Amino acid sequence: MSNHEQHDAAHRPVQRKEMSRRQFLSYTLGGTTAFMMGGAVLPMVRFAVDPLLKKKEKADFVKVVEESKITTEPQEFKFKIHQVDGWYESDPELVAWITKDASGNIYALSPICKHLGCTISWNTLGQNEYNCPCHGARYSIKGKNLAVANYPLDQYALQIENGFVYLGSIQPNTEVKA
Ligand code: FES
Repeated sequence: MSNHEQHDAAHRPVQRKEMSRRQFLSYTLGGTTAFMMGGAVLPMVRFAVDPLLKKKEKADFVKVVEESKITTEPQEFKFKIHQVDGWYESDPELVAWITKDASGNIYALSPICKHLGCTISWNTLGQNEYNCPCHGARYSIKGKNLAVANYPLDQYALQIENGFVYLGSIQPNTEVKA
């Protein structure tokens, strides 16, 4: 390049790539719309999938009563459990009949009659049995079905820790054979 050409290039106006008004408007509007949509939609997506992302709570055991209060005579104990079903949380009250057998084994029976689901009670007829008021089902102290119902009473999973009885989920009776 000659001296003359170098001088011309130095004094030529700088060519900048200009953004058209249309491009500027579409970038600005597009960016603003995307930002606003993200702000509105992301919380909805999170709300929809949040329960799925949470770890499924393990079947918790609930502290119910001091171990020292359990006798060989069945006693009724009430306790509450915390339930989470999707977005619905509740604290229903449950009932257990808890007994200690001759060898010191503690077990907790469900009060739900295995005939049609009424609530049983201990010894209402004075025969040292569980009795159902609806259709006369009877169960032994271990929950064995003696009349009307076809299955033994269910029992709660049970743990003893630091002198307290903890109850978990309801499961088939392992104290007796059907
Ligand atoms: S529901 Fe208990 S005997 Fe029918």
